[in-house]
Amino acid sequence: MDSSRHERLLALDRAHVWHPFTQMAVWPSDDPLIIERAEGNELVDDLGRRYLDGVSSLWCNVHGHRKGEIDEAVRAQLDRVAHSTLLGLASVPSIELAEALVRIAPEGLTRVFYSDSGSTAVEVALKMAYQYWQQRGRPERTRFAALAESYHGDTVGSVSVGGMELFHGIFRGLLFGVERLPSPSPYHWTGGGDPLAGALRAAERLLEEKATTLAAVVLEPLVQGAAGMWIHPPGYLRAMADLCRKHDVLLICDEVATGFGRTGTMFAVEQEGVRPDILCLAKGLSGGYLPLAATLTTDRVYEAFLGEFASARTFFHGHTFTGNPLACAAALASLRLFETERVLERVRRTAEVLRPKFAAIAELQHVGDVRQRGLMVGIELVRDRRTREPYGYADRIGHRVCLALRRRGILLRPLGPVVVMMPPLSLTELEAARLGDAVREAIVEVTEA
Ligand SMILES: Cc1ncc(COP(=O)(O)O)c(C=O)c1O
Repeated sequence: MDSSRHERLLALDRAHVWHPFTQMAVWPSDDPLIIERAEGNELVDDLGRRYLDGVSSLWCNVHGHRKGEIDEAVRAQLDRVAHSTLLGLASVPSIELAEALVRIAPEGLTRVFYSDSGSTAVEVALKMAYQYWQQRGRPERTRFAALAESYHGDTVGSVSVGGMELFHGIFRGLLFGVERLPSPSPYHWTGGGDPLAGALRAAERLLEEKATTLAAVVLEPLVQGAAGMWIHPPGYLRAMADLCRKHDVLLICDEVATGFGRTGTMFAVEQEGVRPDILCLAKGLSGGYLPLAATLTTDRVYEAFLGEFASARTFFHGHTFTGNPLACAAALASLRLFETERVLERVRRTAEVLRPKFAAIAELQHVGDVRQRGLMVGIELVRDRRTREPYGYADRIGHRVCLALRRRGILLRPLGPVVVMMPPLSLTELEAARLGDAVREAIVEVTEA
């Protein structure tokens, strides 16, 4: 343990690093941790303190840190080449990964377009859908429909389809307009009557009136993650997919957060038998090791981009690190682990271990709602449970609970008043029990003190 080194690093961090989604004026007073290494599901800081990685290093780690098989695959790829471009060249790992993704993706998604973050996976999807209609002789289909409180990333296109006032409001002047649909999240439904029926009625109305102007509907299937783990009622996704089909509107499913086992199936869309036209993947794609994203689509969409060279029907989009070989090698190793370690079965078991813990948390005085889908969990803290009066933004209630958890050796990151749990899928049953108990204790400590 070297506290002078720690102090020096902290001072340098303060002097030079601008952290994302962070109010830098208060960052130093939050006693920042400096992570130096990791082992399994734990992160270790520069002072040697260990923390359970309860949000999978921002929702991406799948099999734990320093997983032998993935480390080995990346090392082996390093011995071949770290990076070569996909613009004008192919590469071995990107070919093998595309084939593996098509094999596990919902039927019909046969084409893989790589990029490097969830935001770019969505940005690619939007541009792809837009250009598709331009080249299919329907140039008036330029608009997108998306849900209230949706989050699809931080690039300008993905922010445009995003619907979170706190994150996106300031940029409104920079964004393109979107048709907004109500979220069917039961806890947040304000439309009266049944949320599922109400949300579908609104979607039907919109598609009846405006489908001919729409390029696509964009959805986070089953769970709106960044909204605070808003869970959709069963049947919503299926009905939305049917509506899109009926009106010939493309369906873009953003599985950046839900993909790769998070909800108990490889992809969330499987749970309602939905085959989107475009599927966005990132985060867990590389096992959470390296920045890698993929936008999958159908032959139908792909073929609209084919033509003589001079036709300029090319998809003019790509990034320097598109399909990076190290990241693809990590992703291939991660996909193999899903099979060899029967990860999906384990997720369902671990989710069951957590369920009674959440039932106990749901009884607490300041808990308004507990939402769980597989290993995606949100606990909504409220000032008044009966009236659902929320805590104020400035209360930083979720943050305070997370600080209390940090003292118990657990790292979580809240979304406002929602305590979020997104542990690695490799979480053991013992760790799950510890996590559930500690979250309960921390909520009691902070909200009932
Ligand atoms: C559903 C969804 N889409 C897109 C993104 C953006 O991903 P990234 O942060 O990798 O750009 C996120 C990130 O949380 C997400 O949850």
